[in-house]
Amino acid sequence: MKVYALKARSIGSQLHHFHSSCFREQITNSYDIEGLKKRALEPHPQNNTPSSIVDKVGRNLHRLPDHPLNIIKRRIENYCQDYAKKTYSMQEFAIFDDLSPIVTKRRCFDDLRVRPDHVSRSPSDTYYIDDEVLLRTHTSAHQTELIGSNTNLFLLSGDCFRRDEIDSCHYPVFHQMEGVKIFQDSELVAGDPEKSLEIIENDLKSLLTGLATHLFGDVEMRWRSDYFPFTDPSYELDVYYQGEWLEVLGSGVIHPEVIYNAGKEGAQGWAFGLGLERLCMVLFNIPDIRLFWTDDERFHKQFVGLSNDPKKVISFVPYSKYPFCYKDVSFWLPVVGGPASFHENDVFEVIRDVAGDLVEEVKLFDEFKNNRTGRTSHAYRISYRHMDRSLTNEEIDEIQFRLRDELVRRLGIELR
Ligand code: PHE
Repeated sequence: MKVYALKARSIGSQLHHFHSSCFREQITNSYDIEGLKKRALEPHPQNNTPSSIVDKVGRNLHRLPDHPLNIIKRRIENYCQDYAKKTYSMQEFAIFDDLSPIVTKRRCFDDLRVRPDHVSRSPSDTYYIDDEVLLRTHTSAHQTELIGSNTNLFLLSGDCFRRDEIDSCHYPVFHQMEGVKIFQDSELVAGDPEKSLEIIENDLKSLLTGLATHLFGDVEMRWRSDYFPFTDPSYELDVYYQGEWLEVLGSGVIHPEVIYNAGKEGAQGWAFGLGLERLCMVLFNIPDIRLFWTDDERFHKQFVGLSNDPKKVISFVPYSKYPFCYKDVSFWLPVVGGPASFHENDVFEVIRDVAGDLVEEVKLFDEFKNNRTGRTSHAYRISYRHMDRSLTNEEIDEIQFRLRDELVRRLGIELR
């Protein structure tokens, strides 16, 4: 199996020239982690990426042997390579798992036909480094670059970043895997677009239903129409597992404009993308997304040797559930700029920054408007729990006080 970890080039000295467009074009191939982290912290009016997030750049959990994300990644890669050998006359998937997560807005959104006003682009949802560069929100951000460089069959995994809510399934850093195939003319039927489309769709669906069976066993599945701006038609695959329908992945036939943006007008192919945490949580019984980031050996020892074991059924046994404790905070939203300038994700981010992985869940439990003053009040309940030990009251009080101060300082809210 070929592994294409595009080599880190020494770019430290180029950092000062960061604003040159030439650097921007090379950025995804130049994975100098320390340089990029330094760069990501440089002040810029559009930079909304806190240091707690920058710290996670380069952790590359999916590349650590025996990490559950690595185990699932390898299982998917193994299955896809076997499928390719059988189906694509011995062609192999090129494997990428070390492309820089810092990408351009163009690659992440424009090339993929994400509309200029789409919410996924907004700073309430995406971590920007400056007005052109951001932390990738999905691995699809590499599609046009790779297709444009004639990479016609690839799997790509990497860390992705999104500002989001806080609960046991959401974390601002998560991992995705992308698969893409661009077909050779000889695999399609010249002059018969319908037949060609059918070939592409059938191949995509047979690869992915096979993958789902490989991972979940003999389960019921359903295909549903979906929408992504970069595929048309688009499909979601669900499996019926342990009494529930689970959405496993998004996929579809790559939109002709995306192919055009990659510089390969007229070519055709499919793409799919899946979230690795979610798959691991369901398949390996991992109850909380924060566990992927723990250093506790009671977690990691349960996965030893499994990166090289393609078949073993894995079921994580929680080592203990420590008690949680909750605290409430309520405040008036800022008047300056109005409630429109305020986004709940800003609150979640301050909480993540102050409390780190101690926060398990945050819920907006009360919201009202004072009609006389026109001001809006929000009340949040914050559940704290450590994954690996009990928390003390003092510890939580200290965090909660700091949190209150930071909310005032950073969001301009008024505590109630
Ligand atoms: N990028 C999409 C997401 O993050 C998943 C996807 C990938 C869908 C490729 C279609 C094709 O949800």
